[in-house]
Amino acid sequence: MEFFNLRGVSVVGTGFVGLVTATCFVDKGYVAYAYDSNHEKAEMVRSGRPPFYEPNLESLLKKGLERSLFKCVNSLEEAVLKTDVTFICVGTPSKADGSIDLTYIETSAEEIGKALAKKSDYHVVVVKSTVVPGTTQNRVKPQLEKSSHKVTGKDFGLCMSPEFLKEGSAVNDTFNPDRVVIGEYDKKSGDFLEKVFLNFYGENSPPILRMNLASGEMVKYASNAFLATKISFINEIANICERVKGLDVAEIAKGMGLDQRIGPRFLQAGLGFGGSCFPKDVKALISFSQGLGYEPQIVKSVFDVNERQAIRAVELAKQLVGSLKDKRVALLGLAFKPDTSDIREAPSLKIIRNLLAEGAVVAAYDPAAMSEAEAILDYPVEYAVSSLDCIERADCCIVVTEWEEFKKLNPEDFLAHMQKPVVIDGRKIYDPEKFRGKLVYAAVGLGE
Ligand code: UDX
Repeated sequence: MEFFNLRGVSVVGTGFVGLVTATCFVDKGYVAYAYDSNHEKAEMVRSGRPPFYEPNLESLLKKGLERSLFKCVNSLEEAVLKTDVTFICVGTPSKADGSIDLTYIETSAEEIGKALAKKSDYHVVVVKSTVVPGTTQNRVKPQLEKSSHKVTGKDFGLCMSPEFLKEGSAVNDTFNPDRVVIGEYDKKSGDFLEKVFLNFYGENSPPILRMNLASGEMVKYASNAFLATKISFINEIANICERVKGLDVAEIAKGMGLDQRIGPRFLQAGLGFGGSCFPKDVKALISFSQGLGYEPQIVKSVFDVNERQAIRAVELAKQLVGSLKDKRVALLGLAFKPDTSDIREAPSLKIIRNLLAEGAVVAAYDPAAMSEAEAILDYPVEYAVSSLDCIERADCCIVVTEWEEFKKLNPEDFLAHMQKPVVIDGRKIYDPEKFRGKLVYAAVGLGE
């Protein structure tokens, strides 16, 4: 492989994508500079504490700081001047109409441009944030040129490389992606970034696909919308299975998944998808498509099925318990999935809102998301200190997130602690054979 003397990489934004990207580069021996406009977050990162829970990230961060390869700086200019490539990893939240808010992208591009104005060496700017097709070309490029007074392609390079990492396995996903996509403004920018990735991955490089900027942007939306479609599809099958005696959606998913054309992953039925990506990206794709004059029917249904799916848990609770007024309902799991403290768009939030509207008293517990929930949520929820504390005196328990810790609970635990042992298994983590004879048990996708 051609030797490539990279001075270092910089990231703008120290969220999941930015911080994981920077610390993974550092782990491979590169210098990485991180910048975040939120000084509180930056201070946490500097002291070796990631601002969110992510397995293996804290040790990578601490190692990087100890080796002085990782620096979280207060000046974006310094980050750009001391490195050869800058990854834009800032948030692209949803606006009220579902479209994406590009404020952080544009501010970052403006600031990076100002730094580029002071730089004579070639530098490549890479958009890693999820943005709709056309954004890098029509919004980022003009902003960079305006504040740098330079010309894209001639004076600096521009690429867009979507990020496919999953929360909870972000570090592993970054080291071992299925593929890397490079959307490039011109060949020089693409060649440069491909070299960066080839050096990062070494001998075992994943396939690296090169395409134009808009295609790179679209690959990300199409991938996330397809995965979300798989989930809503299996949830729809689950809802049908529940109405047929003897059917279990897990068995059906297994039978489907072994067909190599379908594949086994993302066919786990549950209470719907949440998190910082799928809901936002599905909404953005709908809005983008509508803006082009095309009504995207499948993606809209994916969204609608998902909106209803969390409420399925409350419907099941009402079927089994009757009126929920003044009933104590225990929620096991607040995070949108296990191994993360992230509660953004989590099904638990819709469930809590609906339970409170039914007049229930809600107790909740999550192994990682308690402080986040207490800080953000504005609901009268009783926060428990353990799963057993959460189910204590409850009239009904809903398992929302499939944490390992919850899988260890057995029927006797529920019998000993609950007022009335009614368990709604929203992620089908228990064996119905073991639970059914001993307590009232219902699971998503499980017929009577
Ligand atoms: C997702 C994409 O997978 C990733 O490629 C992209 O970069 C960001 O968005 P993430 O949101 O971290 O990653 O989590 P993911 O593991 O994909 O799960 C998303 C949601 O789908 C979770 O709420 C999860 O519980 C749900 N899900 C996932 C299911 O309900 N069933 C499944 O089979 C898989």
